[in-house]
Amino acid sequence: MYSLLLGEIEKELDPISNTKQALQRVCDLIHSEMSAYDWVGFYFMHHGSRKLHLGPYVGAPTDHTIIDFGKGICGQVAESGNSFLVDDVNAQSNYIACSIDVKSEIVVPLYQNGNLIAQIDIDSHQLKRFQAEDEKFLKAVNDLLARKYPELENFIDQLV
Ligand code: SME
Repeated sequence: MYSLLLGEIEKELDPISNTKQALQRVCDLIHSEMSAYDWVGFYFMHHGSRKLHLGPYVGAPTDHTIIDFGKGICGQVAESGNSFLVDDVNAQSNYIACSIDVKSEIVVPLYQNGNLIAQIDIDSHQLKRFQAEDEKFLKAVNDLLARKYPELENFIDQLV
């Protein structure tokens, strides 16, 4: 399932040269193909202000379009540079709720040329939705984007 979808994403991205369109397409594909991936979005890092800015996403609109490094699951990943899998968001003290329907979450960092530039964030309405396979898959998606879109590291400039 995961490797099939990865292949499909790679094929779908082939004709897309615009970085923003590519990010949106990835969100749409993952959201529609994976069960209980209920909100899918990318946050980009602004290292100067130590804030994350929301980029393309699919799912319910969120008030949290800007997140401080260190705050919530996303902000913690901005500081650690490591993936964060949350089985039950209600058991987390440093968590930013976007919707009461969300039960579990995964955030996987996106590196380009060795630099931490963004992260993919998925929310699920299902408890314990995310496993090691999801992390591996999302890391592969991020690596694909980093390889295919050299402009990704400047994408933050479109958001601030
Ligand atoms: N729950 C995230 C905030 C972003 S929303 O899920 C879209 C967090 O705790 O960082």
